[in-house]
Amino acid sequence: MESSTKSALKSAPSPDAAARNGDEPTICAGVLGVGIASPERILTNEELSKMVDTTDEWIRTRTGIRERHIAAEDEATSDLALAAARRALNSAGLAAEELDLVIVATATPDHNFPSTASIVQHGLHATHAAAFDLSAACSGFIYGLVTGAQFINTGLYQNVLVIGAETLSRITNWSDRSTCVLFGDGAGAVVLGRVASGFGILSSDLGSDGGGADLLKVEAGGSRLPSTVETLAEHRHCISMNGNEVYKFAVRAIEDSARRAMERAGYSMADVDCLVAHQANSRILDAAARRLELPPEKVFSNVHRYGNTSAASIPLALGEAVAEGVIHPGDLLVLVGFGAGLTWASCVLRWGSGE
Ligand code: UT7
Repeated sequence: MESSTKSALKSAPSPDAAARNGDEPTICAGVLGVGIASPERILTNEELSKMVDTTDEWIRTRTGIRERHIAAEDEATSDLALAAARRALNSAGLAAEELDLVIVATATPDHNFPSTASIVQHGLHATHAAAFDLSAACSGFIYGLVTGAQFINTGLYQNVLVIGAETLSRITNWSDRSTCVLFGDGAGAVVLGRVASGFGILSSDLGSDGGGADLLKVEAGGSRLPSTVETLAEHRHCISMNGNEVYKFAVRAIEDSARRAMERAGYSMADVDCLVAHQANSRILDAAARRLELPPEKVFSNVHRYGNTSAASIPLALGEAVAEGVIHPGDLLVLVGFGAGLTWASCVLRWGSGE
């Protein structure tokens, strides 16, 4: 994952580092509000053990997952996204009409097109907002956060809604025990806006290695392999994954990307108050934390209650960490995503608006 050989996108110098160097203050983008939503229905490991050849013990010891939320038949990704978005707007104290842009990061859009973001924009009555979906799998929320922040940093937009939302249950092969125990549904949203210098997003690290595209994918249903009766019968519209290879990549990606983002912000890992990483597996989080020399109390996890919710997992974790009082204004956070593509994405965030 040497950055010289990969298409890693370098971030602009950190506004925080610039402020400390005495440079001109720049416009800083930060989180004004956060909201989460999850379907009512909870699927436990016990129930899964009646559906496929698995046990609660295997799932818990290999993944840390105890239960996950599953969308109702009439509940689509945009429904979860809308609920999370309304809560985020409420916590930011902002009206939907004040939004300039809606970004939805998802691997399970309502449709191929129109975008889920347009459906959410309409549902919110965000009449002045542009809208688009972003596809970067489990790294999608951080890609969205960094993209949204650029519109604020340049002065083009004031308020950007970034949502990570998934109904992975719709693309899960419920007869494949190696994947069906892992995934869940949910959504998380943040409102980005202007914050005081030294607060908000201080640095980022985005990257991709498409050489690993086959390790984690939904093979059929796109232009490469359109839907046929055969592809449906063979579950090729569902998630397939080489778990062992993705596991090794994930631990490396969290460490490397988090360190790069921290270095760009001008901080060391010892300065981190909380790591909020993609919630795929508690063993991955533990291994990455050891490599980063972060004590367990600085690593937030809720994978036991949600499973892997792809683009929704980081905002779901962030929202719960804030609600539980784990994250306070002024805390230094590092958010890290990793997943299909392969992709990885980190950003360093000084929590709060500085007011
Ligand atoms: O969000 C995108 C990123 N995704 C990830 O980060 C996922 C990364 N990968 C992982 O988290 C882990 O690789 C898994 C949780 C998917 C699998 O854990 P593992 O420790 O790597 O297990 P394994 O795939 O090596 O399988 C070990 C054994 C196999 O049996 P044998 O061949 O040793 O007899 C599997 O057939 O466990 C078996 N197995 C299961 N047994 C009971 C696989 N799934 C299950 C299951 N219940 N659900």
